Amino acid sequence: MSIIIAGTGSYLPERVVTNAEFETFLDTSDEWIVARTGMKERRVTSGEPSWKMGELAARKALDAAGIAPEELDLIICTTVTPDYLFPSCACMIQGAIGARGAFAFDAAAACAGSVYGIDMARRYLATGDINTVLLVGAETLSQVANYEDRGSCILFSDGAGAAVIKRGDGPYGSCLRSDASGAHQLYCKHIRKDTPFYKSDAPFDGGLFEAELVGTTYMNGQEVYKFATAAMPEAVIGACERAGFAPETLDMVVPHQANLRILETAAKRLKLPMEKISVTIHKYGNNSSASVLIGLDECIREGKIKEGHRVSLVGFGAGLTYGAAAFEYHSK
Ligand code: ACO
Repeated sequence: MSIIIAGTGSYLPERVVTNAEFETFLDTSDEWIVARTGMKERRVTSGEPSWKMGELAARKALDAAGIAPEELDLIICTTVTPDYLFPSCACMIQGAIGARGAFAFDAAAACAGSVYGIDMARRYLATGDINTVLLVGAETLSQVANYEDRGSCILFSDGAGAAVIKRGDGPYGSCLRSDASGAHQLYCKHIRKDTPFYKSDAPFDGGLFEAELVGTTYMNGQEVYKFATAAMPEAVIGACERAGFAPETLDMVVPHQANLRILETAAKRLKLPMEKISVTIHKYGNNSSASVLIGLDECIREGKIKEGHRVSLVGFGAGLTYGAAAFEYHSK
């Protein structure tokens, strides 16, 4: 069983943050950021919460699919930057679009989230119990970026992507992996506060992580870079194997946008020209689980992904998590 991607949508905040803006408060330069990451600018929220961006992307996906909110059976939101611990971002989106018949929950797998989400949607659809899934990746990474760390904050951005997914026929394969041996290389510890029973300066049980930053992101860029350049091709090759076609026959790969150099290295390993790799990093930056769905939406709307094309979606990030799905694209 495969999937139909009945419609896609995305939302990018209007606020554009250029590399030059980082020069005003960090020891960095446009030249360094462009050369080392490929990023020229990124979008950052001026107040829109994750769920609102998710709602706006979802509305466009529903429009493109020609599906009413009431027809949705399930909403999965793959955010790692929800606005509330509870209710979930998915429930906020459900309420906003009026999807009364859907059950809704968040599923977090960092930047691999929307690829995990695609695969989860397919597995729910395969049971035959439900027919229509809305998958949303909505993130406000600017809320957890460490703006004192020039090695990571320049990467992070905000936005949302969405897809309406139904049951389909044809080849489909996925390859999902987690490797917690690298958990300490990329993390954001949740804020803990004093209570009558606990003092926030008490030792953190576990002591897994070197830097005791709270509510902000730590990243060992070099280690994550090494992981990502190996993980991305491994996942795509694994997913293609299970789908029954060779990676070289892919028409388009839609990857998580972390660094242009990671995408170029992966393209070489997959023996694919860069024209077959979706790139939005120069204009949107890294918005975690939103990036693959935004790339997918852009590729479909610009005609880079057409009916019957062989497509692979691939993500990698904190956890460490990584994964890919490979399938023939059909919208009906
Ligand atoms: N401006 C200027 N200089 C900088 C900056 C900056 N913004 N950032 C780092 N540098 C300096 C460093 O201090 C270092 O200087 P030194 O040689 O004097 O010590 C030098 O540049 C080289 O630093 P590196 O860390 O080796 O730089 P690198 O080429 O590795 O690029 C980057 C850093 C862009 C972070 C890269 O490692 C990367 O992209 N890593 C992977 C990110 C990723 O994939 N994240 C996963 C997804 S994110 C998520 O899941 C939320």
